[in-house]
Amino acid sequence: MIDYVRHHLSAKLLLSYCAIIVAGVFVLLLASQAILPATFNHHMSGMGMTPALAPGASVNNGMMGNANSTDMSQLYLDFRASFNEALLYAALAAMIVAVILSFYLSRSVVAPVRAMSLATQRMTEGHYEEHVQVRGEDELAQLAMHFNEMAEKLNQVEVRRHQLIGDVSHELRTPLTAIKGSMEGLIDGVLPSTQETFQQIQGEAERLNRLVDDLQELSRVEAHAYQLAIRPLDVSSLIQTVTKRLSHQAELKGISFQLDLAPNLPRILADEDRTIQVLTNLIGNALQYTPEKGKIIISARRVNERVQFSIQDTGIGIPRDHLSYIFDRFYRVDKSRSRQAGGGSGIGLTIAHALVEAQGGRIWAESAGEGQGSTFYFILPASNEKI
Ligand SMILES: Nc1ncnc2c1ncn2[C@@H]1O[C@H](COP(=O)(O)OP(=O)(O)O)[C@@H](O)[C@H]1O
Ligand SMILES: [Mg+2]
Repeated sequence: MIDYVRHHLSAKLLLSYCAIIVAGVFVLLLASQAILPATFNHHMSGMGMTPALAPGASVNNGMMGNANSTDMSQLYLDFRASFNEALLYAALAAMIVAVILSFYLSRSVVAPVRAMSLATQRMTEGHYEEHVQVRGEDELAQLAMHFNEMAEKLNQVEVRRHQLIGDVSHELRTPLTAIKGSMEGLIDGVLPSTQETFQQIQGEAERLNRLVDDLQELSRVEAHAYQLAIRPLDVSSLIQTVTKRLSHQAELKGISFQLDLAPNLPRILADEDRTIQVLTNLIGNALQYTPEKGKIIISARRVNERVQFSIQDTGIGIPRDHLSYIFDRFYRVDKSRSRQAGGGSGIGLTIAHALVEAQGGRIWAESAGEGQGSTFYFILPASNEKI
């Protein structure tokens, strides 16, 4: 019995209700016994009769005499006995109704808790689509609502995990199939063992390597497994560092960089390496997706308490219906074209997005459409020091 109560909230609730009922009835009995003589006497004298010799009642009425007083005492005793009997039956009836009511009440309070407990168990077994019904607006309903939100988030994480495994396997398979095919060709003598064949194989191996590096970086960035060293940084020197690094690549394609920095630009509050990484990603993409002899304009201007960077190119552009997806992992507008254009895995923008957001900024892209060039924007907090 004690063990049952210890393990069941409904039994605990029922017991506490019962304790309250018993206490209530007990007080009712005690109070009625204490008040009864006085109220009896009060009513009797109200009717013009001699008050009975009820305990505590002082009686001194010479006119009515002793015989009358004895009758009244007997009347009082009879009245008290019948009153107590009635009270006892009434208390019993009230107790039975109260116990039945509290049984159902405690069950209704415990029902949502039990539903959540069952749902949690199912989730532990891997059924993340579990939900509980939300009834009413009280604390239990709020708990159920938060539980459902948590279940939804876990479900999303699970779906994303499945997607990621599927995507990663798919991405790994492409270069692996190419390497395997070339090796088989070489062994069977179908492919000539020339420098070109080996370079092709090496190219695919490098692609694999890059993909694994990107994935590692993405997992680090998304798990926030890195320290941000936020400090005031000079915008112009950041941009120059990146354009200098990419100048050789730009020269090879005959693409020119144009810098357009607003005067009196404040410094930004950001992590130097991470901001360079974002700029390298965006300017690298602009170089990758802009045909020869194109132009890339890199600008920065102050917008309220922030600095807005933009990287505008005269490249292949991005169709409108793809714009909202390009920051998703592995998303490429044209997979085969992206492979030929330099073999991106579609993770670069995902990393840039995560890095900008981690530094309290925002990143987005605009493009008038295919062949119309694209502009990538990102904003970062400005340092409020005087420069
Ligand atoms: N400057 C750009 N011009 C046109 N398309 C772009 C540009 N930058 C990114 N994209 C599109 O967004 C996709 C995702 O970019 P990213 O994440 O850097 O992957 P990738 O590894 O393919 O470069 C690219 O495959 C490309 O389709
Ligand atoms: Mg890229």
